Amino acid sequence: MLILGIESTCDETGFAIVRDGKEILSNVVATQEDLHERYGGVVPEIACRRHVDVLMPLLKKSLCVPLEEIDAIAVANGPGLIGALLIGVNFAQGLALSTGKPLVGVNHIEAHLYSALMESEPELPALGVVMSGGHTALVYVEGVGKYRLIGQTQDDAIGEAFDKAAKLLGLPYPGGPHIEELAKEGDPHRYPFKGGRIKGRPYDFSFSGLKTALLYLVKGQNANKHSPLIISEEDKKNVAASFQHAAFSNLIEKIHSGTRELACKSILVGGGVSQNLYFRRLLEESCSVPICFPGEGLCLDNGAMIAGLGYHIFLEHGASECVKADPRLRIKEHTDAVLNDFAGAACAH
Ligand code: KG4
Ligand code: ZN
Repeated sequence: MLILGIESTCDETGFAIVRDGKEILSNVVATQEDLHERYGGVVPEIACRRHVDVLMPLLKKSLCVPLEEIDAIAVANGPGLIGALLIGVNFAQGLALSTGKPLVGVNHIEAHLYSALMESEPELPALGVVMSGGHTALVYVEGVGKYRLIGQTQDDAIGEAFDKAAKLLGLPYPGGPHIEELAKEGDPHRYPFKGGRIKGRPYDFSFSGLKTALLYLVKGQNANKHSPLIISEEDKKNVAASFQHAAFSNLIEKIHSGTRELACKSILVGGGVSQNLYFRRLLEESCSVPICFPGEGLCLDNGAMIAGLGYHIFLEHGASECVKADPRLRIKEHTDAVLNDFAGAACAH
């Protein structure tokens, strides 16, 4: 079965054709980094306009088979920026209507988790880790479509924290890859940064304190984000390395306790930040269960993960009754006795 996947939840437009949920026939992405770089973050209005401009040419580019051969269309309908979602969903609806093809709505976060399953078949249950510009979440994954949210960020997502830290250091947007690069020559233990902890919620995250600690270190105690840097170019490397180490140590600690407490047999990682090789090494060195990372071109937002997951949704439920853009779309939770016990245990920490 051939599924056309459409992604436009934030600042990437993606189309892909995937056979039977796994075999990627095409996967084309138009990033908007050039447009948002000078603002240091995504400007929703600008993102929307670019989506409109590139949707049609990108669709054509992705069509490595005639449109008639596509069995269904899958579109990411949330969570994300409302304007960006509306553009993708309306486009998908128009395409479905004009071609008579079934349409399936796909949750973008579930698709990030699915991306790690496109090239491997790990033993389940798994602990899913979504680490992207908009989301940080730990998810118990019993199977495709069988999830339970274990923890999530209470403020900045991990990628957002990297982007903001990079901006404070005068690095371009998106900041994650620049922090990783700068950190290669720095000492990860030079500054005692720490990721946040939330009382009574051991699997939730908080990265805004880490960002503020970095602000005060690089610009001084009474500084704001516009104040000049008071550290040397050389020391920037240590700041980047220490920041990266603190953010990942905090995340990895929670991944380990979640894996242990829920008896997970593997770990699935997804989202743009999972491209970071320092993170991959830290996790691999400290982990006793197999870890699945997304393959080439599947970490950052893309249409292939939407088509891949869309295939399973279509097989199980057929076309979605109504696909609505929902900026706050939550993952569909599956209840299970083991997890009910766990939820109690987690609160008691
Ligand atoms: O998954 P994604 O494309 O977008 C969302 O769904 O939000 O992730 C984009 C995020 C950005 O915040 C970017 O800075 C971060 O992923 N990122 C990285 C790296 N590559 C991308 N963060 C740290 N290290 C990297 N190598
Ligand atoms: Zn994403």
